[in-house]
Formats: sequence, structure tokens, C-alpha cells
Amino acid sequence: MKVTIIGTGYVGLVNGACFAEKGHHVICADINQNKIDQLNDGQIPIYEPGLAELVHANRQAGRLNFSSDVEAAVQASDIIYIAVGTPMSPTGEADLTYVDGVAETIGKSLNGYKVVVNKSTVPVGTGKRVESIIRQHLGGREASFDVVSNPEFLREGTAIKDCMNMERAVIGAESKQAMQLIRELHEPFNTIIVETNIETAEMIKYASNAFLAMKISFINDISNICERVGANVVDLSYGLGLDSRIGNKFLDAGIGFGGSCFPKDTEALISISKNVGYEFKLIESVITTNKNQPIHFVQKIDTIVGSVAGKKIAVLGLAFKPETDDMRSAPSIPIIRELISRGAEVHAYDPVAIEQAKLVIGTDVVYSDDLLQTVDGCDACVILTEWPQVVKMDLDEVKKRLKQPILIDGRNIFDLAEMEKRQFVYASIGRPDINAYASQIG
Ligand code: UDX
Repeated sequence: MKVTIIGTGYVGLVNGACFAEKGHHVICADINQNKIDQLNDGQIPIYEPGLAELVHANRQAGRLNFSSDVEAAVQASDIIYIAVGTPMSPTGEADLTYVDGVAETIGKSLNGYKVVVNKSTVPVGTGKRVESIIRQHLGGREASFDVVSNPEFLREGTAIKDCMNMERAVIGAESKQAMQLIRELHEPFNTIIVETNIETAEMIKYASNAFLAMKISFINDISNICERVGANVVDLSYGLGLDSRIGNKFLDAGIGFGGSCFPKDTEALISISKNVGYEFKLIESVITTNKNQPIHFVQKIDTIVGSVAGKKIAVLGLAFKPETDDMRSAPSIPIIRELISRGAEVHAYDPVAIEQAKLVIGTDVVYSDDLLQTVDGCDACVILTEWPQVVKMDLDEVKKRLKQPILIDGRNIFDLAEMEKRQFVYASIGRPDINAYASQIG
């Protein structure tokens, strides 16, 4: 099938490469000439494991092309995906400027029956809005089209795997012809297809992300209680998750969720609810817990270290999760800002996200992509992202290089008994502190 994907961001590129890999002919189009030039030069503007290889192989096979001529790209395909960004506006609503712009271009270029698919995460009702914008820009031409919602569920860092082995494809459509076409497009993925109307498909995306965010805030709240009653949240999650009605995924306590989806989509869901006169208090609490969690973590650092003022703190990991350079809403941002405002000198390590981090956190931090160099001479070491390099770090060497053997782990990477044996002062999330008295003596 011939597919054009408008928007060469995360979602557009990954889907473009995966559709091509499954044998479809794909044009990834973007008005940003620089990005298209980069892609045509074989450079991938984002860090995502496996993406560069997949793009390269499918370009070689002639199934994947890049173009900045969006109108021609629309005319060349039967299926047009809208995969542009929907950033958070200051009011918390999704900003639809880019989606509207693409709908206008599609309206102006339509040259025969097309199915226009919303892949971007858009508020309920956007399907109808896109349809009306396209219609307004047909300029009296006879061109038929249908609008479909086909939300995205991939995770950064594992996007290719998630897309190639998708657990479900949700297709919201009113027209049988459009539903059939998008069904066929997904046939090679051999996945469960959920057929529904456009509004339900749009809501499934928000409900999924809000539910997952709720699980994380729930376990973070529980971890804070665990700390006060002497319980261990890792054992608790295990015990909780064995109930198949609950499930064991997304129950890892930590420093709060970040990224491009959960923070934005939970806020957008609150806006969607407000707009229809409903107060979604549960999700409001999910957001509040998530905003408090990084600050709670800094308080923990402060207590263990005995005030961070004037101390040199090593921070391991900046990206919001491993295998990405994405810094959007990363918990490292509020944590580092708070550490600095409390007078700490921050030395930060990340294997890939430093350039992105500099843009958000600025130059008040000493950055390095060398882990051991980062911890050298620091008063304490703080773990913010569970990069494999951090999980497998040489603990003996880290201990040698630190001024005091203090490790404060925001991701519960290490085993308590092991840390006890190695004589680290070790604090984590929702688990008892190890040797914490030693730091206060030292
Ligand atoms: C998420 C959804 O998982 C995906 O389906 C959707 O399409 C986009 O948003 P992503 O943001 O890439 O994907 O990452 P994800 O792996 O879901 O992690 C999000 C955040 O939650 C990260 O900051 C992660 O560290 C945190 N998290 C996740 C936890 O703190 N605990 C967990 O148990 C799981």
C-alpha cells in the first residue's frame, strides 16, 4: 500500500520505517527542509535503538523516501498519516496548530479518495475538526476522503520493537471503506484490531496513558508510606503484581514519570474533562504526586548527605529513561534545579542526553559522558536514570573515587544486602536505608 506520513518526529519516523519494513511504500514528509536534508543524508535526528538501521535498509530497498514537498506526498498516496506534534499549551490543553496546518495542506492537495489518519495524540473531537478543515480547503474540488483515528502506543527506547510487535491496533472510523483500508495496512503486523468510532479511539489513547501514569503515581505514593513504616516497596510491588488483575508492569517506584507523553497527556485529559464539565480528581492527584516525587527525593539526598549545600553531588543519568536522549519532562530537571538551589555543585553523567540536557538545564552543571570521571571526588552519587552503564558500573571503583561511599538510588537498581556487604551508605525509594548513620557520623 502507498502511505504518506506527515511529520518526521518520533512517531512519524518510527511508523514510517516499520510500515516500510512490513512491505508498504512510504513517504515521510515534513515542511522542515533541514530535517529532510538530514534524513536524505542518512542522519537520524533522534536517538532510538535500531531506527537508523531500519531506515537505511528500507531506503536501500526503495520502500522509504523523504520529502519536503508535502502536497506532492499527499497526492502520491492513498493513506495519509498525520504524525505531527501536539505540545502542551500553557493551559494544559493539546496545542493543535500543527495538526490544523497539516489538515489545511491535505485539503488543498487532495486529488482523489484518501484516508486521512490521525496518529498524533489529539483531544476527542479532533477527527471531526480535521475533517472540517480539509473540507474548507477543497476549494470547490470534488475529492472524497475519510478521517480515521489510529493512536500510537510505542515507548521511547523500545519503539521499533513496540511497533513491529504491536499488542493492538486501535482504529476509529465511521466509514467502512476507510476501516477496511487501515485494517489491511495492519495485516502484516498480525495483531489484534480494535474497531470503534473515532471518539472512542481518541479516548483509548488518553485512558491508556492516564492509567499507566496512575500506576506509577500509586506505587510512588505507596513507596513514601513504605519509607515511613519500614516496608520494602520492591517486595511489595512483586507481591502486588502477582495478582493477575493488577499485573506486575509499571509498578516500579522511582523519581516520577517523565517523557513526552504521560505528563502532557494527563494534563490534556484534565482539560478534556473540564471542557465537558467533569472534574477528573483521580488524575489530578496522579499529577500532584508526580510533581512532589522529585522534591521528596532531593529531601532524601539532603538528609543522607547532611545538607547538600557546598557539596559536590554526582548525578548519574539525565534522560527521562534509558535508551533515549529525550529530556522532555525528565525528573532530572527539577531534581538538579533543586540541588543547585540548595547550594550543591552538580556533576552529571549521561551516555547520550548531554546535548539535550544542556538546552534545558543550562551550564550550571559539569557534564560528562564518562561515569567514573563524574563521580571522582564527589561527596555523594545520585542515580536518576537506570542506564545499563549505571546498572553495571564498577561499584568498587565508584566507591574508591567518591569522597564518601554514599549512593542514593532513585531507581532501586541495587540489592540492599549487596550494598550492605559493600559497605555503601545506600538510600533508595521505598526501602530501608543502609548504613545511613555512617554518613551522619562522617
Ligand atoms: C509512554 C507509554 O508507555 C507509551 O505507550 C505511549 O505511547 C507514550 O508514553 P514513554 O514515555 O516512551 O511511553 O516511556 P515509558 O516506558 O512508558 O516510561 C514513562 C516514564 O515512566 C519514565 O520516566 C519511566 O521512568 C517512568 N516509569 C515507568 C516509572 O517510574 N515506573 C514504572 O514502573 C514505569
